[in-house]
Amino acid sequence: MLEPVSPLDREALAELATAALAAVAGAVSLDELARVRRESAGEQSPLARANRAIKELPPLDRAQAGKNLGAVKQQVFGAIAARKEELEAAAAASRLAGEWVDVTLPTGRAPVGARQPLEVLQERIADVFTAMGWSIAEGPELEAEWFNFDALNFGPDHPARQMQDTFFVDPPGSNLVLRTHTSPVQARVLLSQGVPCYVAVPGKTFRTDELDATHTPVFHQVEGLAVDRGLTMAHLRGSLDHLARAMFGEGATTRLRPSFFPFTEPSAEMDLLCFVCQSKDPTCRTCGGSGWIEWGGCGMVDPNVLIACGVDPTRYQGFAFGMGIERTLMFRNGVADMHDMVEGDVRFSLNYGVGI
Ligand code: DAH
Repeated sequence: MLEPVSPLDREALAELATAALAAVAGAVSLDELARVRRESAGEQSPLARANRAIKELPPLDRAQAGKNLGAVKQQVFGAIAARKEELEAAAAASRLAGEWVDVTLPTGRAPVGARQPLEVLQERIADVFTAMGWSIAEGPELEAEWFNFDALNFGPDHPARQMQDTFFVDPPGSNLVLRTHTSPVQARVLLSQGVPCYVAVPGKTFRTDELDATHTPVFHQVEGLAVDRGLTMAHLRGSLDHLARAMFGEGATTRLRPSFFPFTEPSAEMDLLCFVCQSKDPTCRTCGGSGWIEWGGCGMVDPNVLIACGVDPTRYQGFAFGMGIERTLMFRNGVADMHDMVEGDVRFSLNYGVGI
């Protein structure tokens, strides 16, 4: 084996350095660089051998030898590290270039649209009730006046019948209306299924309102009806609180406020604590400063309704409620304008993550 280069021979060391630097610069891959490193600076390299020769020198020369070699090693290792960085960067860049995808290229798939958020919300509400063991029912949108009004204890001269907001259906005397609420399904279910009964009824309802930010002539409600022995207002409250929490989160706060409906006695409105100001801002625009927002009507089923449907009110009691689906979507998702809900623009629907 050749004599090692003397660590005192600066010229020879400089040659070693030049050769090593050239080899480093010539390495075009990380593998090649690893080989160059082994050859130029590894255990058996001339550099390492020169290094080992230091201890053979007379003690007085060793410091100078160490300095000479240190300078060369610094150069060579510095060059290796720098080249390594370059090669790694190049490898990463070429990997990225290989993985490059043009996300703007047109695809073969046509956008298929999105489900209507009101429909999806009705399904979610139905899920809340089926999870409690209730069943889901539907009724006709074109409804007999008897179901829409008479069975629900609206007297023949009750103003609600003639109120501006019912769509009566031709010919006059057909006794048909577009149902003004989902409540007629209460009577249909009681007559067809009897008691005990726990049923939720999501569906479309109609009133002669002009379309504006807070009204639409076609809207949706979810009706609830429970008739059994020993039901009380507490069951009503518990069921609606459960729905409120399922819809608006665990923190939802509700209150019952006395009201009147012909088909319930006592009757109440269910309000939600204003989710914008938490009842703390008298100038709040969402709740008009009242601190509460109306969500729907409810109450204990009037004995006259039970009688009309063949149920003995001395043995059975019931509670019922009707909540607005549009209002629920507004509160839940901060929809400020009903136009958005009825115009059918897919960009609105897609916001709800209901793309199909
Ligand atoms: N049907 C009522 C309406 O359209 C809402 C309602 C109130 C439904 C009380 C009920 C109830 O079942 O018990 O405004």
